[in-house]
Amino acid sequence: MRTPSTKRSLPAISPVPGAMLLECRAVAGRFTGDEGAKPWTARARAVSNRGMSAPAAAWTLDPSVVFLNHGSFGACPAEVLAVQADLRARLEANPMDFMLRQYEPLLDVARERLAEFVGGDPDGLAFVPNPTTGVNTLLRSVAFAPGDEIVVTSHGYNACTNAARAVSEATGAVVVGAELPWPMPADGPTAVVDAVLGAVTPRTKLVLVDHVTSPTALVLPVERLARALEERGVDLLVDGAHAPGMLPLDLRALDVPYYAGHCHKWMCAPKGAAFIHVRADRRDAVRPLVVSHGRNSPRTDRSRFRLEFDWTGTADNTAWLCVPAAIDAMAGLVDGGWPAILESNRAKALAARNILCAALRVDEPCPPEMVGSMAAVPLPLDPTDGARSPLEPSPLQAALWERHRIEVPVPSFPAPPRRLVRVSAQLYNTLDQYHVLAEAITRELSAEPAGPARDAPGSTAAGAERAGGRAGGSPDADDGGRP
Ligand SMILES: Cc1ncc(COP(=O)(O)O)c(C=O)c1O
Repeated sequence: MRTPSTKRSLPAISPVPGAMLLECRAVAGRFTGDEGAKPWTARARAVSNRGMSAPAAAWTLDPSVVFLNHGSFGACPAEVLAVQADLRARLEANPMDFMLRQYEPLLDVARERLAEFVGGDPDGLAFVPNPTTGVNTLLRSVAFAPGDEIVVTSHGYNACTNAARAVSEATGAVVVGAELPWPMPADGPTAVVDAVLGAVTPRTKLVLVDHVTSPTALVLPVERLARALEERGVDLLVDGAHAPGMLPLDLRALDVPYYAGHCHKWMCAPKGAAFIHVRADRRDAVRPLVVSHGRNSPRTDRSRFRLEFDWTGTADNTAWLCVPAAIDAMAGLVDGGWPAILESNRAKALAARNILCAALRVDEPCPPEMVGSMAAVPLPLDPTDGARSPLEPSPLQAALWERHRIEVPVPSFPAPPRRLVRVSAQLYNTLDQYHVLAEAITRELSAEPAGPARDAPGSTAAGAERAGGRAGGSPDADDGGRP
């Protein structure tokens, strides 16, 4: 990730209306804590009014909620939402002018800034509404033949593993599971590389791996995997939903055929902003899921890749156009900009993990180099033992919300009754909040009925995939699917 030295703003956008910002901040807060020593910028301090800490007041989050789940859906600062409102006002003031004349230049600016942020090639970068769409798009663009193998991991995101299953059903390719350990050993990155390469055979055509895993919040060694798979002639698709804005990115150097990433999680853009990044040698084969005018456009001033992806039918794509505003708004909150944000969030995630591990009397489940802006901590076995769909909160997660107003995911992993709690660390979070969670979770656990005495079975969806060969297993077999 490169933090641009000079900021380029969107062309001709009227200034953010001050009244709107004030409205967004008109909430009293409980966010008092550890930020005092942080180098918040004057801009961040300026929005820190009405009892809210800097920079929590830059967000519109409900201050009565202990919001420890930035990872699932992100949260967008008020300033960026105001830019989006302005863009929408422009759209509705003259839809023809906006769609036919303003949209494309704005999109080009957004794409350039995003490419700069992720160290990528703007010619291989296309906006999509979310990584699920991105991963589906990329998987469906690969010419799989019957018997080809697609490797997925046991920590993979359920929706994207499902996309691989769907492609396998349509093409006769086979989904193979690589079982990654949990908890991770001291040399977790090597264990991950070994497990993935152990699942690779001469028939493997593509490996799908998360840059940061969803249920277990692990930063996986994608650089090492990229080089090892390249040597074996196997394509790598990185599901980087959590990576942009959490990890320094240099997609040119990573040089993988396919990458999908989010802008609305850790970059804090409005919802609906995500991207795919495709290496030049794979670009011709990659087509959007939706066919529109680009397919037979006579235009010669833009690549087919751009013409097809930039217009897939009428939509409100203002979230994409706000990506430059999100990059700048976030960078403006902390002295040191994005590198300082990454460092601060990671330090907070590690501190949060210490707080929880101490309260729950468990060891850290992975080495610190596998932690980014989120941390997962194993919990005692779930006495309810229930298999549930990835979008259904567990009883403990529901209790934390209903009795303590804490938003935090408690997924079953790798399979019920084993479970964990995953916390996020964004600029607006304070260490006090993790202490509040530790206290609440200890209290809820002590009120639970005695759990299953046996250790949980280690089987996972990916394990079942390996045993069963051809895809088609239940998506609910594990819970690697929570956002
Ligand atoms: C690793 C991973 N991949 C993909 C996604 C999908 O994101 P979306 O639902 O926005 O498409 C998520 C969402 O949290 C994720 O964590």
